[in-house]
Amino acid sequence: MSSNLSPEERDRRVLELYEQLLEVEQRLIPTGLHVFGQVPVDHEKVDLLKMIASFDRPEYGCRALPDLIAVGLGLGGYKSIIDKSNQSADALQNREKIESILRDSIETFLKNGSAAASEFLLKTANVSVDDATPSFALLSRVGEQLKKSQELDSLARALRGEYIEPGPGADIIQNPDILPTGRNTHAVNPYAVPSPLAWRRAEPVVKALLERHKSENGRYPETMAMVLWGMDNIKTQGESVAQALWLLGVKPRRDQMNRVVDVDPIPLKELGRPRVDLVMTISGIFRDLFGTTMDLLDRAVRCVAALDEPEEMNFVRRHVNEQIRSGGTGSSFDEAATRVFSNAAGNYGTNVNFMILDSQWEDDSAIADLFVTRKCFAYGRNLNGKEAKALMQRALSRVEATYQNLDTTEIGITDVDHYFEYLGGVSKAVEKQSGVLPQIYLSDTLSPDAKIRTLDETVRLETRTKTLNPKWYEGMLKHGFRGVAEIEHHISNTFGWSATTDAVDNWVYDEIAKTFVLDDEMLQRLRDYNPHSTHSLVGRLLEAKGRGFWDADERVVEQLKNVFAGLEDQLEGV
Ligand code: BEZ
Ligand code: MG
Repeated sequence: MSSNLSPEERDRRVLELYEQLLEVEQRLIPTGLHVFGQVPVDHEKVDLLKMIASFDRPEYGCRALPDLIAVGLGLGGYKSIIDKSNQSADALQNREKIESILRDSIETFLKNGSAAASEFLLKTANVSVDDATPSFALLSRVGEQLKKSQELDSLARALRGEYIEPGPGADIIQNPDILPTGRNTHAVNPYAVPSPLAWRRAEPVVKALLERHKSENGRYPETMAMVLWGMDNIKTQGESVAQALWLLGVKPRRDQMNRVVDVDPIPLKELGRPRVDLVMTISGIFRDLFGTTMDLLDRAVRCVAALDEPEEMNFVRRHVNEQIRSGGTGSSFDEAATRVFSNAAGNYGTNVNFMILDSQWEDDSAIADLFVTRKCFAYGRNLNGKEAKALMQRALSRVEATYQNLDTTEIGITDVDHYFEYLGGVSKAVEKQSGVLPQIYLSDTLSPDAKIRTLDETVRLETRTKTLNPKWYEGMLKHGFRGVAEIEHHISNTFGWSATTDAVDNWVYDEIAKTFVLDDEMLQRLRDYNPHSTHSLVGRLLEAKGRGFWDADERVVEQLKNVFAGLEDQLEGV
């Protein structure tokens, strides 16, 4: 830290740093894989129950416990404390106090039950027993259901062709009604998407997203590209669909049966900002499950493009008009307003993940081209997946920011290769078409304060809370062979972000090498459990260096090369 900072500036930076540490510490992470049929033990439940109790749940009559504690302590609402905690030492202290009372109350609940936990909150934070009881009743039900597993029984019954009772598919924090597990997961009715709750939850996320972009770029983005997945919208009943509608500035219209059948523009006066032009990249799963929703999104774009509004407040209209005026191919209204793209019917995925993980590319533009080739099929109206490569390229050439909603704590951006193939892939395609890598954002709709992070920030957070966190990797290593494979996947998926977006700091690779390869004891454990994945892991680090993603110390590279050669000999039985 530079020594010529004013004391105020220094204090502010220390507070910011401390807040980031809190964020890392409090993040819910999986500490091992799910073993089919096995139930969690008590100490594994504290963080989960704490998170479940941290949201208002009117459907169960529960108010968020952090809020009740904050109010009980005379500190006002919890959200205002979080909002201020990176600027004020008092707010930060209060935040920690509330979190610590909450944790103690959950531990009391697990040890001595609901009545004891309610009494604890009454004594320590002045929370009335009436207010706390519905939350602990919910936690009791969740706690009981977590103790039982019918997964193996259900599987055996399913194999005998017997009836398995249905249950919703969702994230456990979003919807604790997914318990007990071992039921036949059902999706949602596409006509119910977005649900009224998803619609309400999407508004602050979109607001935070646009404000974040504006604060760093001086204005709202005119065009964004957004990734929409099927599972995500099942779990959240359409939160990212709702976010797309909010960006365009339209609201769902429901019929008498409460089905979403059309959209209505939100008046600009009410919206208070321009309508953002939006290119939608839709997964094959979304396309299969939400056909009517694809039509709705396409209708929303065309409805906005046709509004008689000033172009500086309606970027969809501005761009559609420009394209029409430019003449030539692709300049009819419908062509110029094509924004909903997915794979050809029957196809899934971008294949960008395979290209990168199999090291099958030399020039970055191959990644961009593959993405567009796979995803350039237009949907909505009666398009039914008509190939529209030039229209997609033109739409992408205007994109200034890309975005995807993160809906679960269980699967993050380096757990699977799909985030980098989609969000990384579309960002690479934008870079090729526009000449500039876009700003890349992710939301974190599972933190109570609907956070927006840049991709760089999200990669750092994932690296610190998972890949380099002993709690995470030791949890994985309990699974031996499979655990090493999971660690290797994280590192390869991190590499996937370098390949598509260059969003990985150098220290990430330095620390990965130090933790997993340069530490003799750790390296020996990895080799003993799974020499194949260890070989891939070391090879991936060398590839990161070779491709210029990692500016590695030459001595470290030498060590990696020796380890790699040794592993090769081991695998070949030399
Ligand atoms: C989806 O739910 O749409 C999805 C799932 C896995 C990979 C990509 C997309
Ligand atoms: Mg870099």
